[in-house]
Amino acid sequence: MLKYTIGKGNYKNWIIGEDEFSLSEQGKGESVFCLGNGYMGIRSAFEEPYPFQTRGTFVSGCFDRLPDETVELPNAADVCEIRLILDGEYFSMTQGEVSGYQRCLNLYTGELTRSLDWRSPGGKRYRLVFKRAVSHADVHACGMQVEICARDHDAKVQVTSGINGRMTNSGAQHFSDGSKRVLDRQFLYLDQRTVQSGIIFYHCCGSRVVGAKGEVRDFAMERRRILETMDFKAEKGKTVRYEKLAVLYTGRELAEQGEQALQLLARHVRRLVTEGYDALQEKNAACFRSFWEQRDIRIRGENDRIPLALRFAQYHLLAMIPPDSSSSIAAKGLTGEGYKGHVFWDTEVYILPYYLFTAPEKAAQLLEYRINRMGQARENAKKKGYRGLLFPWESTGTGEEETPLFAGMDILTGKAAHVWAGIKEHHITADIAYALWMYRSAAGGRDIEDEEGNLLIVGAALFWMSRSVYVEEKDRYEIRDIIGPDEYTEHVDNNAYSNYMARDTVQKALRLLRGGGGRFVRKAEAYYGETGIAERMETYARKLYLPLPVENPPGILPQNDGFLQKKTLDVAKYRSSAGKQTILKDYSRRQVDQMQVLKQPDVVMLLILLPELFDTGIKWKNWNYYEPKTIHDSSLSRAIYSVAASDCKESREAYECFLHAMDIDMGPNPHSSDQGIHAAAMGGIWLAVVRGFVGLRVLEDCLCIEPCLPEQIQEICFSFIYRGKNIALQLTKEKLMLSSTGDEETPVRIQGRDYRFTHGLEIAM
Ligand code: BGC
Repeated sequence: MLKYTIGKGNYKNWIIGEDEFSLSEQGKGESVFCLGNGYMGIRSAFEEPYPFQTRGTFVSGCFDRLPDETVELPNAADVCEIRLILDGEYFSMTQGEVSGYQRCLNLYTGELTRSLDWRSPGGKRYRLVFKRAVSHADVHACGMQVEICARDHDAKVQVTSGINGRMTNSGAQHFSDGSKRVLDRQFLYLDQRTVQSGIIFYHCCGSRVVGAKGEVRDFAMERRRILETMDFKAEKGKTVRYEKLAVLYTGRELAEQGEQALQLLARHVRRLVTEGYDALQEKNAACFRSFWEQRDIRIRGENDRIPLALRFAQYHLLAMIPPDSSSSIAAKGLTGEGYKGHVFWDTEVYILPYYLFTAPEKAAQLLEYRINRMGQARENAKKKGYRGLLFPWESTGTGEEETPLFAGMDILTGKAAHVWAGIKEHHITADIAYALWMYRSAAGGRDIEDEEGNLLIVGAALFWMSRSVYVEEKDRYEIRDIIGPDEYTEHVDNNAYSNYMARDTVQKALRLLRGGGGRFVRKAEAYYGETGIAERMETYARKLYLPLPVENPPGILPQNDGFLQKKTLDVAKYRSSAGKQTILKDYSRRQVDQMQVLKQPDVVMLLILLPELFDTGIKWKNWNYYEPKTIHDSSLSRAIYSVAASDCKESREAYECFLHAMDIDMGPNPHSSDQGIHAAAMGGIWLAVVRGFVGLRVLEDCLCIEPCLPEQIQEICFSFIYRGKNIALQLTKEKLMLSSTGDEETPVRIQGRDYRFTHGLEIAM
């Protein structure tokens, strides 16, 4: 059971913890407490092994594919396993008696600790404290420390630990048995190569014991594993420390190979071991300190868990951002095997806005990841008979479509259920173009001339035109047989979200083509091998069918053709177990498809991405129509309903939805499991507060702030970056204050009125 009251004093609202050990719930803690620095992520499995444990180490962007399987992030060798034998008794929390157990992730310092008192089955008492950190100062390094205090006797301690290359992805082994070495009679080394992609993973670790006597070190080499055993004595009542420092590199970033690589790793580990665990953690904590100095969102309100949730979300958003554009953010970050490390629209729509306002260079990096894969998107479009660019629904290293064809079970047939998303869920192409445009607006149009970005938007527009059919008798274009964001409704015609987003893409492309005095038109036509594209886009934008709100039920925008005529279902039962997709245990996907049942927002998603489309009255009607029909079976759901309610100035519903969104990974019983945390939900927490309650977003030529502060929140303060300027914002029920240090004016629209400010602005609310 997770606890939020553990942090006191300076650490109030900075600590996620648990004060009970649960064998069967380990997966949750492993994900929620996961440590990562964007380069690597290590699931927080306990040091000593237990059943139901899912150990995991993932390196961003290092994919591998086993024959006949989906490409995935391989689970690299584990260095965190540490087995203790204390006076001949094996330490396990399932034996003897455990008291005073507490495990905490300190979000302020980035350190994971576990402390407990153990009475062994033989009646001996020990105090044990375990610490662990994945360094943000040195992305290849991680460290562990175990403090052992034998309470009432002198104890013989044996610690066994090493590098375990026997890890699998749910049974699938991605690594060959590489080479193993003991270097300088002190450091353990193991390398392994991924089976298909041939990426070498280099591991090296070393250890030291502080405060003990009679230390004896021994080594063992086994198949896919190298181990060290340390024997030493712990005097009664004295704390001894075992420390292990490890590094992980891959062949992708190491120029050195063979013996040279090995020496580099040994030097690195030697330095870490000499400095010790505390030094590694101190440098790591310094990175976190400066991160929080800039990014902390201070919220004054009734619920202490809200500031904690924002810290939790930002902690994970930091842990998941890759070092460079060779990879992007996976649906579970680097916290688990879920979705195999694949990248979805989650990144552009749920996560990128956070980076846009806090580290625009990281937002640019995420877009670069897509720009660098335009070639594959072009191939993908061609392969499926379309023009322009079709980005994959699930992307990995290459940018090819990697959505598996089957997943889960169809309750009617007992067979694996067909997944259509990779074949029909095409809105991601519009979402990426939308994100790129938003980035440019936030950057003040500085990159607007960037040709590759322009080509991406034009390519996305060309795709939509070829994806549509011209219906002669209606003299309009329609988009048929598609899947919108709500994956419980498949193979539909004229999904409102997709149609409006397609038009939005085409309108953006047109603006690029019409600007620049025709020079870019020639470039784009040459690039895509087509002529007359601007004229065709103009016709298309005019003639693309855009569903409008109907009269019955009044004001409702149909999610797709025929949606409003489908039967409804009381989804209360499923909403209370939301996130687990329990409806698919009662109905097959095809049956769900025949009902007005939503997994996640679709029309309402559109209303927050293109908020100018409809007035508040229509938006609120649609919210009230669609929300009760939504099971929220996707972690992408609640935060969006919260933002949409804020947009309608319905703060009570916005707050309610936010509380649910916050609990997806941080609730007393989080949905996270052996699969990992939900990356989009982390972005969603930030969106619900910043985009929702504060109402902060970018328009093309200015900032826009439309606050909707719930009754339970008195004040929100934070800093953000806009057009290269650092802007501090303070919002209370009475006023909104903005201040900036630059000398340039910032245009801002607040509650519909335009202002410009240089150093400060105060508006009464
Ligand atoms: C959701 C998608 C999402 C994916 C990855 C699915 O369950 O329906 O919208 O992109 O999970 O998070």
